[in-house]
Amino acid sequence: MAESDLNKNAKAEDNLLRLVIMNPPDKGNEELRSMFTQIPYVWLQAECTKYEFLQEVIANQTAPHIVVVAIDADLEKACNAIERLAQEMPDVGILAISKRDDGQAILKALRAGAKEFLTMPFGVDHLSEILGKLEKAGKIQHSPTLAVNKKKKTLISFLGSRGGVGCTSLSVNIAATLAADPHNKVVLVDLDLTLGDADIALDLMADYTLSDLVENIDKLDMTFLNRSLSKHSTGLALLPHPLNVGDATMITEEHLKRIISLLAACHTHLVLDLSKSLRPTDICALAMSDFIFLVVQLEITSIRNSIRLLSTLDADGKLGPRVKLVLNRVGMVTDITREKAVELLGRPFFWEVPNDHKVMMESRNSGTPMVKSAPVSKIQHNFSDFADAVCSKTKANKGAKSFWHSLFTNNP
Ligand SMILES: Nc1ncnc2c1ncn2[C@@H]1O[C@H](COP(=O)(O)OP(=O)(O)OP(=O)(O)O)[C@@H](O)[C@H]1O
Ligand SMILES: [Mg+2]
Repeated sequence: MAESDLNKNAKAEDNLLRLVIMNPPDKGNEELRSMFTQIPYVWLQAECTKYEFLQEVIANQTAPHIVVVAIDADLEKACNAIERLAQEMPDVGILAISKRDDGQAILKALRAGAKEFLTMPFGVDHLSEILGKLEKAGKIQHSPTLAVNKKKKTLISFLGSRGGVGCTSLSVNIAATLAADPHNKVVLVDLDLTLGDADIALDLMADYTLSDLVENIDKLDMTFLNRSLSKHSTGLALLPHPLNVGDATMITEEHLKRIISLLAACHTHLVLDLSKSLRPTDICALAMSDFIFLVVQLEITSIRNSIRLLSTLDADGKLGPRVKLVLNRVGMVTDITREKAVELLGRPFFWEVPNDHKVMMESRNSGTPMVKSAPVSKIQHNFSDFADAVCSKTKANKGAKSFWHSLFTNNP
């Protein structure tokens, strides 16, 4: 990994809330862990299963902002561990957690030095609120949620109206064009989980794919994530679809939310190449997107499917306004005129991409996005303007929040 990448990653990690969980082995362990890992700005640094070793585990890490201590297994040992920690690291926010609503135990943990107490089960919203409270009260020195909030992230999805309409070509080229700006850090995620080809379009032989991240979802942190991304010479990072076709079904919406949240913590732009089958992961991606680019061609199947897709997306009050029509391959001989298409679709095209078979084929065959293979071509100029339009629209759209955006900014 290049030094500049390491520096960028280090900065991204600075924006995260470092957390250690102290939880003796129990069947509720995963539930507790997943409550925290659902919060996008939380970075689970370590887990400890013995109260006696907590100090040692923490000593081997960069100092955490929060230590969560589950107290039910042994109240006495838990309170001793809290007390030691509170004395040695007074800046660390200690959050005690119990499944029992036992007033005496709560009092004991707070007297030992816990700064907040939570009774399980609790929702992610409530947990975020408690973390926010600890922050506001100045009980945590660092202010990661605020630091992350300042950086605007943009999540863009390309959704096709039929096979071969140009989703991968547009995803790859817009992502590479955005990545060419040194201020941006861009990742392309291939969500066409069975038949995706973004890796071929970028000529990348990936060591890791989405399924490796999902198999290791419980230990997923920024280091693991960054190691799993394939890097293109344009600066674009790629998270490819699983190599094994059968692995596509193991990727759930929850996995995707977790992965997207972590990617968002260290990238300015996330570009998603969706499948055409509207799997649960595609629907989840749509809900997280700031822009949903529905790719259309002036041809009967594409227009008919676009009308059907628009009617479904518009029925969802939150998704509808984020859908923008992109007309691809303008200039090709077509079945329908642009004017007729606009009339049938009931809205104008947000963007129009010219047809350039030669340049596109050369780029696809060489696995080099046009920003490198044909930087002065008409079609690359179009992609640069498209990327600029996305960026200026992002600034103009500051008020419109996607589900993902509100999750990430902790401000629904
Ligand atoms: N603007 C364009 N000009 C010329 N050719 C194009 C253009 N856009 C896409 N193509 C060509 O169309 C073909 C299909 O494109 P692409 O693979 O991007 O579509 P897709 O929607 O991702 O397809 P799939 O359904 O297989 O995922 C490719 O051969 C590509 O080179
Ligand atoms: Mg494709």
